[in-house]
Amino acid sequence: MVGAVPAGPEPGADHRRTGDVFGPDFVLGAATAAYQIEGAADADGRSRSIWDTYSHTPGRIANGDTGDVAADHYHRLGQDLDLMASLNLDAYRFSISWPRIQADGTGPGNPRGVDFYSRLVDGLLERGIAPVATLYHWDLPQALEDTGGWPNRDVAARFAEYAALMADALGDRVPTWTTLNEPWAAAYLGYASGVMAPGRANGAEALAAVHHLNLAHGLAATVLRERTAPSTTISVTLNLHAARDGGPGGPEAVERVDAIANGAFLGPMLRGAYPERLLADTAHLTDWSFVRDGDAALIHVPIDVLGVNYYSTVTVRSWDGRGERVAADGHKPSAASPWVGSDEVVEFLPQPGPTTAMGWNIAPEALEQVLVNLAEAFPALPLMVTESGAAFTDVVTPDGAVHDDARRDYLHRHLVACARARERGADVRGYFVWSLLDNFEWAHGYDKRFGIVHVDYETQRRTPKDSALWFAALARDRVLGAPGPGLRSRS
Ligand code: FCB
Repeated sequence: MVGAVPAGPEPGADHRRTGDVFGPDFVLGAATAAYQIEGAADADGRSRSIWDTYSHTPGRIANGDTGDVAADHYHRLGQDLDLMASLNLDAYRFSISWPRIQADGTGPGNPRGVDFYSRLVDGLLERGIAPVATLYHWDLPQALEDTGGWPNRDVAARFAEYAALMADALGDRVPTWTTLNEPWAAAYLGYASGVMAPGRANGAEALAAVHHLNLAHGLAATVLRERTAPSTTISVTLNLHAARDGGPGGPEAVERVDAIANGAFLGPMLRGAYPERLLADTAHLTDWSFVRDGDAALIHVPIDVLGVNYYSTVTVRSWDGRGERVAADGHKPSAASPWVGSDEVVEFLPQPGPTTAMGWNIAPEALEQVLVNLAEAFPALPLMVTESGAAFTDVVTPDGAVHDDARRDYLHRHLVACARARERGADVRGYFVWSLLDNFEWAHGYDKRFGIVHVDYETQRRTPKDSALWFAALARDRVLGAPGPGLRSRS
């Protein structure tokens, strides 16, 4: 559905004006997620999510880190809103913590939890920043996991109820909604490889989770459509995998990965059916009987924008069964594979650098190609890059500055990729940096810093890095500029 993304040289740096290539309405924003920044784990009636349980399980997270405090955003809302305004953001993409709204994932909304997001939305609007609200960025209420989690169909119905609560509470002020962030990660990393919450490892259950996440998306999109103004933009964010052919059996391996990673979501959401390839490749694990009559229509409902998260590529080939299978797919190594049904068949090869601190290869040309391939596959659907960014080992100078030239260069190159995709016909409407703040990077804890704003976790002091100053100038002047030395923070 996204197809193969050939390896190729990155075109040279591009110095054009964003106003020329993106148009004045192109959205420049930053993104975060609730569990990664909010902290305040017990505040105001919030209950545990699967990430609280997972992060408190010894051995799951680097250094035993948890999101209990994180960047303490919940208690620093006003300061963080002012920070966003100082960076000239057009929009801010945040996620709502389901267990703040419904402690047990069911029943009426918790007014104190709702109030936090209401104040966030009002604060954004007062500052001229457009809110982009994501309903689910992986923090399922633990109480729903205890009923079976996403492999249990009932969770999709609970999600639709939660969507209705939020639509009623914020629908009058939030212009753009995203149902799910990266259902790929929620299903396959959460339930197949177990390197993310809830940490289960069962391929068949992961496929049931895929379906129920798709169903949850469709039900929530319908609820949002019914309960918000006609002008409301409804979207979903997928992390589409850009797969490259890595030699013997490469095309077959690309097809498999494309079906599991991309077609499993794009198919039902945008075409009304799962790819035959996916059903065939997983037939030895499940008969897909969890898909009921009528589900296809519930999932295949119109959306207004497709959100695309992009970080790097994978390079694959067929495994000949000899030697040790190479599994350099960029995800945390695990005994069980997230590549359900293809784990014994596909190899993921190490890729040429340069790489970020995550070990992910930097390949902006693949972002361009993903956007172009999507535009060809779904011509009428606008696209939005909802996450793009990089972790690097930041060095804080004695006066607190961070000269993160590599991150600025990364962002610049990926914005150029968006511009080029637009020139090639892709209707790319915006770009959100991952992330506004350094934060809790899931299994990597606080070791990996993705923020354009540095967070000192001892003092909670925020310091814009050079990349933030560069991005702020871009958002103000709409001049893409050269990726050269640029602005310096302090020293
Ligand atoms: C994405 C997640 C986001 C962040 C980045 C680095 O997969 O959506 O929360 O962790 O990766």
